[in-house]
Amino acid sequence: MLLSSLVEPLKALLQLCISTIHWIVAGVFAKVCFWDGGAKRGTNSWAVSRKPSQKRDQTAPIPKSVNYHFTRKCNYKCGFCFHTAKTSFVLPFEEAKRGLKLLKEDGMEKINFSGGEPFLHEKGEFLGKMVQYCKVDLQLPSVSIVSNGSMIKEKWFQKYGDYLDILAISCDSFDEETNQLIGRTQGRKSHLDSLYKIRSWCQQYKVAFKINSVINTFNIDEDMTEQIRQLDPVRWKVFQCLLIDGENAGETALREAEKFVISDQQFQEFLCRHSDVSCLVPESNEKLYFASCLFMNVFICETARNALNPGEPKNTFLCFL
Ligand SMILES: C[S@@+](CC[C@H](N)C(=O)[O-])C[C@H]1O[C@@H](n2cnc3c(N)ncnc32)[C@H](O)[C@@H]1O
Ligand code: SF4
Repeated sequence: MLLSSLVEPLKALLQLCISTIHWIVAGVFAKVCFWDGGAKRGTNSWAVSRKPSQKRDQTAPIPKSVNYHFTRKCNYKCGFCFHTAKTSFVLPFEEAKRGLKLLKEDGMEKINFSGGEPFLHEKGEFLGKMVQYCKVDLQLPSVSIVSNGSMIKEKWFQKYGDYLDILAISCDSFDEETNQLIGRTQGRKSHLDSLYKIRSWCQQYKVAFKINSVINTFNIDEDMTEQIRQLDPVRWKVFQCLLIDGENAGETALREAEKFVISDQQFQEFLCRHSDVSCLVPESNEKLYFASCLFMNVFICETARNALNPGEPKNTFLCFL
């Protein structure tokens, strides 16, 4: 019984490890091809698309599901955050579009835009244009966003709602004071007001509504059953607070999230308390940890055989989950 309950998680972990190794190997291979191809180094121009002679490495896994963290800037200060504002660099729109097109050519079916706070850059216009491009031009079956919700206006739904399939709003507590303590807020503005407002806009503009929660020392004893039932998301993703060296732990990190970390047993207890909530989907740390990361501008360069502009920060990364 114990053995059989371990088999599935171990299989999933093994698959994720293999997938990660594949990407590392594929990345190295792409670089070798790139150099062998005699690409011009130091050029500023970006290829519009993969050249016909450039065949995709057939052994590389297909990036079906992509997370694009195009900005690191945020208006919130969640103390546990693992994607911190280490640079303010955002890849220009045309380049981002090219990267997305190349990913589509490689088999991408699902795109999720995240950050930082994705609605912050150009007041959500940059995000809206990417969402529209992915739905209309690339015809992706699934286009989604993860946001803290604080910057979203109804006007955005009116303009771009038709192109968005899913909107996930992060909420770690239904107690405003706890949100303040976590840092999931801007000044004294109510995070919960934004959450409820967006829930009704999602209904009105026919966008599927999801909730993400990070379980940490500040909300570990909360029972969120009633509020989640009332909000009725299509999915409630529950994460165990994760430490990433250089992001929210270690000497070079901008955040120190150690005091937010909970044990595996505490996380299980939280899940048990909410076992009646059918939309709950636990996200294990292993899945997040073994997601493969690439930088969008490096990906474009490798695929299109251009060189990265000297000094250009490589902050916009992708995870294939
Ligand atoms: C980095 S945020 C970016 C999007 C947006 N700013 C937000 O908060 O939803 C993406 C997701 O990662 C989650 N997250 C941030 N730090 C985390 C951590 N240390 N462990 C687990 N999840 C985390 C957030 O709660 C959010 O759901
Ligand atoms: S809202 Fe919080 S979790 Fe999201 S990017 Fe900002 S600080 Fe990080």
